[in-house]
Amino acid sequence: MFLVSGPALVKAACRARIIGSFPTANCRTVEELDRWLAEMQEDQNRAADETGAMPAPFCPNLIVHRSNPRLADDLAAVLRARAELVITSVGSPEPVVKPLKEAGCLVLADVASVRHAERAVAAGVDGLVLLTAGAGGQTGWANPFAFVRAVRAFWKGIVVMAGGMSDGHAIAAAETLGCDLAYMGTKFIATTESLAKDAYKTMLVNSRLDDVLLTRAFTGLETNMLRPSIVAAGLDPEHLPVRGAIDIAKDINAAERAKPEAKRWRDIWSAGHTVSGVADVPSVATLVERTAREYEAAKRPGSVQVI
Ligand SMILES: Cc1cc2nc3c(=O)[nH]c(=O)nc-3n(C[C@H](O)[C@H](O)[C@H](O)COP(=O)(O)O)c2cc1C
Repeated sequence: MFLVSGPALVKAACRARIIGSFPTANCRTVEELDRWLAEMQEDQNRAADETGAMPAPFCPNLIVHRSNPRLADDLAAVLRARAELVITSVGSPEPVVKPLKEAGCLVLADVASVRHAERAVAAGVDGLVLLTAGAGGQTGWANPFAFVRAVRAFWKGIVVMAGGMSDGHAIAAAETLGCDLAYMGTKFIATTESLAKDAYKTMLVNSRLDDVLLTRAFTGLETNMLRPSIVAAGLDPEHLPVRGAIDIAKDINAAERAKPEAKRWRDIWSAGHTVSGVADVPSVATLVERTAREYEAAKRPGSVQVI
């Protein structure tokens, strides 16, 4: 996750046997990306020596939007590091699929519509990450039940559910629906290893689903934001410009001048509907253990709901 996932979070995730992903854009330079990738690889080897078992792979996330000037350089770094799998997001995976597949790398593409899913399949990806309504960050709009079944009608490859995975019960439900893997974003922002500020983590603990606002005001794209962070920045969540029209310099600085104690604009934070499942700030290992227990409880015969 942008400005959230760094080496500490990724390494802890892989050691806990879940795939740890990070956008390569979190590194300020390609040299820093090379260092992160080397550090993650070294930790994989160290963890394997210590435990006798290989941890889960780490997974760079390439932002393939044409506005990303570093895509070619970041792709080259990922190929140099021989990453086992890559997620592409915010655009067509087409330009990166061939070099990644030739290097033996599994490619999962983030898609928000059936048409995007068809195009990603035609481009030769190995898996589809279905971005569904309520997901954190730049979100999807499709209902997850209908979306998975629509995609399963033409695709036998890997399907990942993104959005709504607030605990192990939700993961079990995604599996029943036909998914192979599940993304969890927001819950991992509220872990000790994430790069998020403590105030962001505390706000996640104190927020619930109704505090998530879907708006285009800050990024120009449908994004799920935390209302309390908008209020703290001196803005009114009910009266934001409709479509990407916020001029950060003008509107937000003006709001800050009107309310000097307000936080800076960069403290406007995102979360998915899964914020309803954030009750504390555990370590990644604890969160994974807890989620695994919830999943096992959901899979137990006769289990309808376990609280
Ligand atoms: C703060 C934040 C940053 C994110 N950054 C990225 C990103 O850089 N690349 C990406 O593909 N998805 C990004 N996402 C979306 C996640 O990959 C995922 O789809 C989403 O978090 C799933 O919903 P959940 O947060 O409710 O679990 C981000 C989400 C959040 C909340």
